[in-house]
Amino acid sequence: MADVKSAYQQLIAEVKQIALLGSCAGVLGWDERTYMPKGGAAHRAEQLALLVGMMHERATAPQIGEWLAEIEDGDLLAEPHSEAAVNVREIRRGYERAIKLPKSLVEERARVTTLAQQVWREAREKSDFAAFQPHLQKILALKRREAAALGTGAPAYDALLDDYEPGETTENLTRVFSGLRGELVELVGAIAESGKKPDEALLRREYPIDRQEAVGKLAAAQIGFDFDRGRLDITTHPFCSGIGPGDTRLTTRYNPRFFSEAFFGTLHEAGHGIYDQGLNAAHCGTPMGESVSLGIHESQSRMWENFVGRSQGFWTYFFIAVQDAFPDALCGILEGDFYAAVNAVAPSFIRVEADEATYNLHIMLRFEIEQALIDGGLKAGDVPGVWNETFENYLGLTPPSDAMGCLQDIHWSGGGIGYFPTYALGNLYAAQFFEQAREDVGDLNAQFAEGNFEPLKNWLTKKIYSQGQRYRASDLVKVITGKPLSYEPLMRHLRAKYEPLYGI
Ligand code: CO
Repeated sequence: MADVKSAYQQLIAEVKQIALLGSCAGVLGWDERTYMPKGGAAHRAEQLALLVGMMHERATAPQIGEWLAEIEDGDLLAEPHSEAAVNVREIRRGYERAIKLPKSLVEERARVTTLAQQVWREAREKSDFAAFQPHLQKILALKRREAAALGTGAPAYDALLDDYEPGETTENLTRVFSGLRGELVELVGAIAESGKKPDEALLRREYPIDRQEAVGKLAAAQIGFDFDRGRLDITTHPFCSGIGPGDTRLTTRYNPRFFSEAFFGTLHEAGHGIYDQGLNAAHCGTPMGESVSLGIHESQSRMWENFVGRSQGFWTYFFIAVQDAFPDALCGILEGDFYAAVNAVAPSFIRVEADEATYNLHIMLRFEIEQALIDGGLKAGDVPGVWNETFENYLGLTPPSDAMGCLQDIHWSGGGIGYFPTYALGNLYAAQFFEQAREDVGDLNAQFAEGNFEPLKNWLTKKIYSQGQRYRASDLVKVITGKPLSYEPLMRHLRAKYEPLYGI
């Protein structure tokens, strides 16, 4: 037993060191996307490659496997959700994935995707799918090899999904999405037929950037992001980087002629940041101090962006501050008109610009195409046709070009196949958690109307943030809400919001 304990302590010490290397890479990555001059790119790539190589070498060292085997033979792990059992379970998972992928495959993937991303950027600019197609084909072949090497069985797509959402399966997603799809299409159709159109143009007036920054920071701080332990900077593709305890970095981008972009973008990233700030610092660098999955992380960004930031209560409280900051744009505008404008629903081509109601349809389309590409039922060359046809079925529009269609996202060119479903999972988990929070802590909307976001944040911290990876996502939702993942809470949320707004 003494040996088992000492093996566990040594394993944890090593894993924490590897995580420290990872957070060094995190600082460099954040800098690369915010302040680094263009000329620094080549040197930065070398710095990052060195760190990633060091991490990989230490994470796949046979010693890790020996410690794991010794601990698993002992009785330290009797209780499956104890701190030690959770850490060992997740370290084992990461170790298996890392040693199963041959070095040659990892290197080839890095080479192929670096080139593919360059080609994709140009192909998107020229809306030239044919230029990107051979690269997509190569990536698909690599991803199939990767799935086979990981060897989780059929379908191959599960192995790719598991990289982003541990334990999630194609079968479960298909079950949830197929129920959601019909109801969403119906709701979006009813909204279109209602004939009501909020005046979205009022969000596209002049919104000076310096005031947008002040208002965005004010809102992020109000909902609970701690600026003494974090900051906000500008970037092209916004992200949140949790460097470590006491240091969480948000980024956003400003559009002087569109209020929603930076404001809701900032709340979205602040939601990710509030999760990171709520992790248990004592467990930093181990699974017990890390977020559950991309889907659960996204549930928090969507929670604070949409369930809080687009709620009626939030605008009852916050509209006056926004009107004060932009007296020219919002002179004479009523709170109710502003609330309707930030909640406008209309089918559109670009996923990242989609509203709360249509967003998941964009994801289901990608999920179906990715699966068919991986199992071989769909050839890369047929993607534009299938994309446009499915888009027309779900959203009633046909993309005018591939740039506005299948070339819009960076994910495939970077090898990120199986990533998209985590966005939809984020919306679904957010709705299910929010419904439970309302049951547990009372009338959230009334609390928001008074600027009080603490009860929700405290509930989330206790139930989710401080728990680290104690539960996998699909178990966490059962532990918190008593039920498996369902699309119904999301549909209830959307109907409760849009039926009165659109008179349906
Ligand atoms: Co996000």
